[in-house]
Amino acid sequence: MKQLNDFRSMKKNGEKIVMLTAYDYPSAKHAEGCEVDMILVGDSLGMVVLGYDSTIPVTTADMIHHSKAVRRGASNTFTVVDMPFMSYHLSVRDTLITGAKMIQETGAQALKLEGADGVLEHIQALTNAGIPVCAHLGLTPQSVAVLGGYKVQGKDAQAAQKIIHDAKLCEEAGAFMLVLECVPKQLAREITKQLSIPVIGIGAGVEVDGQVLVYHDVITYGVNRVPKFVKTYGNVDEVATKGISAYVSEVKSCQFPSDDQSFSMKEEELIGLYG
Ligand code: KIV
Ligand code: NA
Repeated sequence: MKQLNDFRSMKKNGEKIVMLTAYDYPSAKHAEGCEVDMILVGDSLGMVVLGYDSTIPVTTADMIHHSKAVRRGASNTFTVVDMPFMSYHLSVRDTLITGAKMIQETGAQALKLEGADGVLEHIQALTNAGIPVCAHLGLTPQSVAVLGGYKVQGKDAQAAQKIIHDAKLCEEAGAFMLVLECVPKQLAREITKQLSIPVIGIGAGVEVDGQVLVYHDVITYGVNRVPKFVKTYGNVDEVATKGISAYVSEVKSCQFPSDDQSFSMKEEELIGLYG
């Protein structure tokens, strides 16, 4: 399993870090089987797996339940788990109790927290307690109501400066990595240059230290519409629909099950069977 120092040297050596989300046993097995460098159990769980229209309804219990399954499917891959909405905004004490529970019950390696304002002391406290924290700036979906929608962040000089400043504060607070979502590529390049911790982009261009995408987006699995920054590399929906339609039609037409899928008794055992 890759560790924090491996990710730091990958940044230093210009070797790209690949991160993919996973939410259960099969997606985790796929991710580990394809040798992603790290897995994110994202709270995008709420949208792509649980069918909510935002990440707001996701609970700590949801994250723990799914992260346990991910660990069973990818026990040899560094796994980061999202702390869900409002689970790190009360007291630092509450954050530590929740964070410790998430790490102890799942066996994950790190947690991810969105934002900087009001969050820095929580990043620092978790780090001090021995829990590696990944920061997340730019488009922070848990704040979608405040941001006024899912849109590109940091497009003007002032907003860009604020994100650069926040990124530095996250690094100073002890974050081991930063996820930067949906910002202009020039801003992402600048932040990547100014930080010594790895910067993982999603909708942040190519001049960052690595990329993260959502599992379901990468392979077109049950998603309706994907954002501009997504590239799809397969179509699970097509394969699934084709297979399941064939099953439905073969049951209706008695083509399934055939003798190949049926069990049989010896002829002599049949005597006495019929009423
Ligand atoms: O929840 C998630 O999937 C994420 C990534 C998109 C960074 O936070
Ligand atoms: Na997330």
